[in-house]
Amino acid sequence: MEFTEVIGIRRSIRFFDPDRPVEREKVQKILEAMRLGSCAMNAQWLRAVVVYRDQLSPETFEKLKLPVAGVIMELAPVHIYCYGDLSVIAKDHGARPKQLIDIGALAPSHGWTHRFVDEFVWPQLLEPLTQSPHYPVAMAFDNGGCATQGVLMAYEEGLGACWTAFNTEVAKEAFGIPDDWVPHYLLNLGYPAESREAGGQRPRPPFEELYFEGHASKPFRRDEAVVEELRQRKMIQAPAPLPNRQQELRELARRLGLPE
Ligand SMILES: Cc1cc2nc3c(=O)[nH]c(=O)nc-3n(C[C@H](O)[C@H](O)[C@H](O)COP(=O)(O)O)c2cc1C
Repeated sequence: MEFTEVIGIRRSIRFFDPDRPVEREKVQKILEAMRLGSCAMNAQWLRAVVVYRDQLSPETFEKLKLPVAGVIMELAPVHIYCYGDLSVIAKDHGARPKQLIDIGALAPSHGWTHRFVDEFVWPQLLEPLTQSPHYPVAMAFDNGGCATQGVLMAYEEGLGACWTAFNTEVAKEAFGIPDDWVPHYLLNLGYPAESREAGGQRPRPPFEELYFEGHASKPFRRDEAVVEELRQRKMIQAPAPLPNRQQELRELARRLGLPE
């Protein structure tokens, strides 16, 4: 699939074929895509635990589910629990930026030397970051970017996905999550039982209310010619609701034994 179409066809899929397993190699490809995401200082905070729904004990599974997520988790054969590892930087002492210098990704032309890391980056940026109450939030930004690469890979592989919340205390106990790992979200994964369109592309606030140019009071003007090009390239697709969606929802509920 073209990159633009992958972005366009990604939407939260909440109806999975519960009996169709996801190939392990597809799960690996998703994780590989996450791993290639960019992170401040190449810290790579994201941790993910892949759990196969059918290998969970019924008691643990019941306790893991939250009301906003239960049906999705029941239908998705694979669950990827995502965390941020707060211990990364403290253990690292500037080794990751130094590695980027050594391989020529960070260049002396931009001021990057081991000495710069030892005298400025580590003591004035990284170490204070680990002490800051903003650290988990800052880290979550990077992890969201990395995890999103995995989500897009899932669609490239013909799968569907939906992020959900989960019971973090139960997961910590069940999956042996270390104390330093901050819970993010759970990526539910499976083959869609619903159509690829899943009722159409979901609504977003108007472009100009979200993005600005030069000053936060000056909306970034949306060029309709660009929008049209992205329509042609299947990134911008027919908006929800598509005319047959309610019928599709009823049929899905019947087929999967869910309330209508
Ligand atoms: C971090 C995150 C957490 C989410 N948690 C839930 C959830 O608990 N339950 C749910 O049904 N959808 C959840 N969603 C899906 C969003 O509600 C979704 O983005 C929205 O339905 C429309 O966008 P989309 O269909 O383009 O993804 C979550 C999405 C994200 C990114």
